[in-house]
Amino acid sequence: MDTQMTFPDRFTWGVAAAAYQIEGAADTDGRTPSVWDVFSEKPGAVRSGHTGRVACDHYHRYEEDADLIAGLGASAYRLSVSWSRVMDEHGKPNEQGLAFYDRLVDALLERGIEPWATLFHWDYPLHLFNRGGWLNRDTADWFADYTQLVVDRLSDRVTHWFTINEPQVYIDHGHSVGTHAPGMKYDQPSLLRVIHHSLLAHGRAVQVIRDRAVRKPSVGWAVVGCAAIPVTTRTEDIEAARRATLRVGDEPGWLFNTTWFADPALRGEYPEEGLQLHGKHMPDGFEADLPTIHQPLDFYGANIYQCIYVRADEDGKTQHVTAPPGGPYTHIGWPVTPEALYWGPRFIHERYGLPIYITENGCAGMDWVHQDGKVHDAPRIDYLSRHLCALRDAVADGVDIRGYFQWSILDNFEWGWGYDMRFGIVHVDFNTQKRTPKDSYDWYRHVVSSNGGCLPTKQAPLITDFGPGALNATASSPQIAISAFAPNPTSPSPQGA
Ligand code: FCB
Repeated sequence: MDTQMTFPDRFTWGVAAAAYQIEGAADTDGRTPSVWDVFSEKPGAVRSGHTGRVACDHYHRYEEDADLIAGLGASAYRLSVSWSRVMDEHGKPNEQGLAFYDRLVDALLERGIEPWATLFHWDYPLHLFNRGGWLNRDTADWFADYTQLVVDRLSDRVTHWFTINEPQVYIDHGHSVGTHAPGMKYDQPSLLRVIHHSLLAHGRAVQVIRDRAVRKPSVGWAVVGCAAIPVTTRTEDIEAARRATLRVGDEPGWLFNTTWFADPALRGEYPEEGLQLHGKHMPDGFEADLPTIHQPLDFYGANIYQCIYVRADEDGKTQHVTAPPGGPYTHIGWPVTPEALYWGPRFIHERYGLPIYITENGCAGMDWVHQDGKVHDAPRIDYLSRHLCALRDAVADGVDIRGYFQWSILDNFEWGWGYDMRFGIVHVDFNTQKRTPKDSYDWYRHVVSSNGGCLPTKQAPLITDFGPGALNATASSPQIAISAFAPNPTSPSPQGA
């Protein structure tokens, strides 16, 4: 593979975070509860009983946080707007909540940072959940109204928009398995409705953004990325990985799927393979919504943290290959699979043809402030470096990748794991709110300023050999549970169960 040493000119380097994970100020200035406020108060729902009530207190410390982003030289910050902060229970604007996003956007722009705004990153308003939430078809209209409010307010300054973040995760964890808010365990027909209404809400939001934005908008979404990577570059293995990435199944965990979500949005149809499995449970008349769901997007935002390894067996069937025992894993138990940032964008780009942004990638670490007052997070640096090398290879091989958002600027409330999982390049002491940039912060600053030029020219393989045993291994399951985020089966669940 020919490798160019830097990323393309005008490559977007950014960092990301989300409202409920950092803002805190849960009852401040007229904010109403979201499903996450209630869920995290339930005993046993979140590790160690943590909640996002205070989080990083970003609501009050946004200037300091904007300084930290500016200190990286990053040109972009992916933030999310909290629906329940800006709209009251009667659908009326909450002026104080909107004013916070005014201040935040202004603080970013003053520092030369472009805000990339996500409209929905999982903190669904409680009062709307009580009216049926995503099960209620009206949710698409509610989301459109909310989108209009935000766009009318911010689009004189915000150009880049994401509709929804990772529908796969809030639907699987929140509505099927019940380990995320709102903690439901719906049956298959209900889940299919939740998906369909989420997609409808996405489509309506795109329409609203295009109709109303003051500045010509660039619109996309941020969904979970790749699923499978080939253990060798044999054509059969690549084909097996492509198939595994794009297939639709019905096994537990199938909701972590690429095409069931992206085909309706980007091709105007649900994949045939999935319709054969799920068609009988789809909401009546779903076909009529497809033109609304299928809106032109300017880019595809892919959140990619981990993938599975596959190969083709002698009959050409896809086999799941397990990595050698003993890791590498990140602190949250996710395997380190840097090739995900090569194959994930490549398969997505082949299928959908859109420019790609990596809208989340990062690693949970066992980080604390060392005796010298610094946070030495070498594994995170290696994780990020390897993933960026793989991404650079994808660019060199012609995949249209326009930017990269590291998750996350700050340690924050990691959903079901509470504060026990630290993804930040800035350490947060949750007692004092003191921010300490980690070694990875300085490292990322160099990456940004050199446009990737400081990365190793070649990366040493992480798993040097899958071994004859691994390559001949029988598939652990021919039906691969496709998941960029499925918790590692051997790692503790967010509930610690
Ligand atoms: C993603 C979420 C993000 C964060 C990372 C670690 O699934 O979008 O909010 O929790 O995982």
